[in-house]
Amino acid sequence: MPSERQAYVYVQLPGTLNTVPAALLKVEKLRDGTFVGRFRYGDRYLERKDAVEFDPFQLPLGSAVYEFTKLKGIPGAVRDAGPDAWGRRVIEHKLQRSPGDLGEIDYLVNGPQDGAGYLSFGLKLEPPAPKRRYNRTHQLAELVAAAEAIEEGKRVPEHILEQLEPGTSMGGARPKATIEDDDRLWVGKFPEKADRCNLQRVEYATLELARRCGIAVCNSRLESVGGHDVLMVERFDREHTEGGYLRFGLVSALTMLDCEESYLDRERWSYPLLADQLRRWSDKPDADRIELFRRMVFNAAVTNNDDHPRNHALRRTARGWRLTPAYDLVPAPLVSLERRDLAMTIGKYGRTASIYNLLSQCERFGLTVETARTEIESIVAIVQTWREHFRACGVSAKDVEYMAPAFLPECFFFEKSVES
Ligand SMILES: Nc1ncnc2c1ncn2[C@@H]1O[C@H](COP(=O)(O)OP(=O)(O)O)[C@@H](O)[C@H]1O
Ligand SMILES: [Mg+2]
Repeated sequence: MPSERQAYVYVQLPGTLNTVPAALLKVEKLRDGTFVGRFRYGDRYLERKDAVEFDPFQLPLGSAVYEFTKLKGIPGAVRDAGPDAWGRRVIEHKLQRSPGDLGEIDYLVNGPQDGAGYLSFGLKLEPPAPKRRYNRTHQLAELVAAAEAIEEGKRVPEHILEQLEPGTSMGGARPKATIEDDDRLWVGKFPEKADRCNLQRVEYATLELARRCGIAVCNSRLESVGGHDVLMVERFDREHTEGGYLRFGLVSALTMLDCEESYLDRERWSYPLLADQLRRWSDKPDADRIELFRRMVFNAAVTNNDDHPRNHALRRTARGWRLTPAYDLVPAPLVSLERRDLAMTIGKYGRTASIYNLLSQCERFGLTVETARTEIESIVAIVQTWREHFRACGVSAKDVEYMAPAFLPECFFFEKSVES
């Protein structure tokens, strides 16, 4: 296996349908098994007036070679555009290779051209012609069946695999595909064999509950497909125009926090640290920090403990970077009533999902204890109505009972002196 691999990075320039080569990424495998990645913007790209930087701090525009040793040599903003657990499985299935045989560059260049954000990858300098056709809702049943077959390790016919591919460079672990409907693009999230309840409907109800709490949330709806529900979440990184879809840049909170998905990097998974980062990344840092505080409180109130940094992101708009709408909100019905932890640090008392901890570093979000308390109270008042809301969203009585331990457990309300 060659010790150095490379891929060209293309960007669809903001506000246009024009995809251009922008950078070259070389990844070298060292003798000790570690990796070093070298990223350099191309000179022709740098000459463009409309060139954009992929990350203003780690990849500012310039002719320097940026070196990366974390993430097997892949810069965070590039990783965010590549496949995650589910996408990797589809690529391994397609290439009939095991994970050990594939390098990070293989995963990047074998993803489709229409992944998350505005970046794409290839082995040639010129990007391939843009794809114009997308999956439509009438193909959902076939796609759900294909995802199920991959889960079971069965072989999926090539033409169906190709249809499933547009989901592969969306991140996340659950099976999904991109669907076009009504001149919009959606992420279709499918059921999984191991699910203990109708998670698509539960996620839909949770997203709508968050919206009622004043949180900016993705548009979503359910599609019924052969006895299953598919959750359709409108893609916030695309905008329809006459000639095709505009693409917006995305970076995940993993990139903002400069950390990996591995638990070893968990110390840096933190809402207060993310709030600090918003101060330098966001075009509207005060508004975004309050929004982040609300999302943290909501996640604590519904025990969404899958709130890791890949489930928070920024989107690049014409004016600058802003928090994306909230996505992937799913309550975890844990049994302990004494203590709940989220995935990210909340405050002075670590990851504990209790009011005293939510208040403990509220100033990092630009809030006083009084205003933070008011925010918490208004979210709690809405979350308390979750049962009726879930039933109105069509969640079955059985699933409501199954989910009940997730909502406002006793330990959420624990108080301690904030000064202690
Ligand atoms: N509405 C959306 N628009 C654009 N990208 C999205 C949207 N929702 C999720 N994503 C991206 O896709 C990834 C996977 O989606 P997510 O809902 O988190 O799936 P999973 O439940 O498998 O983790 C996210 O990490 C995010 O990068
Ligand atoms: Mg996710």
